[in-house]
Amino acid sequence: MTTELAPAPAPAPAPAARPRIFSGIQPSGIVHLGNDLGAIRNYVRLQYEYEAIYCIVDYHALTSSHDPELLRTRTREMAASLLALGLDPERCTLFVQSHRPEHTELAWLLCTVTPVSWLERTPTYKEKKQNQPDDINHGLLTYPVLQAADIVIYKASLVPVGKDQAAHLELSREIVRAFNSRYGETFPEPQAVFTEAPIVLGTDGVKKMSKSVGNTIDIFAEPDTIRKQVMSMVTDTKRILRTDPGRPEVCNVCQLHRSFGDDYETIWEGERTARTGCVDTKRLLADRIIEHYREPRERYAELMAQPELVDEILAAGAERLRPKAQATMAEVRERMGLR
Ligand code: AMP
Ligand code: TRP
Repeated sequence: MTTELAPAPAPAPAPAARPRIFSGIQPSGIVHLGNDLGAIRNYVRLQYEYEAIYCIVDYHALTSSHDPELLRTRTREMAASLLALGLDPERCTLFVQSHRPEHTELAWLLCTVTPVSWLERTPTYKEKKQNQPDDINHGLLTYPVLQAADIVIYKASLVPVGKDQAAHLELSREIVRAFNSRYGETFPEPQAVFTEAPIVLGTDGVKKMSKSVGNTIDIFAEPDTIRKQVMSMVTDTKRILRTDPGRPEVCNVCQLHRSFGDDYETIWEGERTARTGCVDTKRLLADRIIEHYREPRERYAELMAQPELVDEILAAGAERLRPKAQATMAEVRERMGLR
């Protein structure tokens, strides 16, 4: 008896490799609204579409004065913050930079193709030289080379960041070009990916929101603190009287409403016609920010109550990256003539 064999099913096509993205964030103690709207929202969104790697950059944090115990605590706090905001360890890899020390080896090798003049003209270096004149350490100068190493060790091609990182990303691209032209095509040129709010202004309405300026809205703070911070925001400085029409285009509170709810045009109209005053618009913004971050705030508290869980996620992330980091280092050593 012969049996007709059904034709063997065609092998399933190998899943197309998803493009890889990478971003790093300093363990700076607090996550403010600028971090979330400018970068972290994109980390969360992109983890579903890309092979996403996110790193808490404790080596970079050493370039500004710090307390070792505090750095350890803040590293865990940043991990808990990112997880609370929606990073899913099943969907992305989250790890601590110093757990993959290959980054520093690659940074050294990339230093040898990076002219000092490129580093000296980096805006953040010039700024730091003014802000911390007693501690202009070499790490500050080399900071962008380590950043380039972070990205290219995983051959990532996209980098979600805020606009303030554009100059660093440009430098990463230049370093990649310098390396590839000397040693052969090795790394892709990384590209920055911005959100719809690539520069979030602080409560002063003038400077970029930043912990060092002290103009932040701290999304994991107690609701009362968030409300105080929002109510202290500078609005349209030309709107003096309650009956003066407002100019939403130049009002930071109105701009932030774009990120919370889909009715910002109605809110803007209220301002333009002086139907609403700045205080009303701020109150509404405070309510919305508090509500929006209520669940993440609760998740953050839960995660901080289970430090071993956070540490496990970080350790697993670093371990998962070991083969990738080591493979790149083997390739780079080979290309550069190291044995
Ligand atoms: P940092 O806290 O400086 O490590 O920044 C972490 C991420 O948040 C980086 O991608 C920054 O570009 C982004 N970021 C920080 N401050 C702002 C801001 N005020 N507006 C937009 N993005 C920001
Ligand atoms: N310089 C970045 C910042 O201050 C942090 C950072 C370090 C980073 N390495 C990176 C960002 C690699 C993107 C990719 O925010």
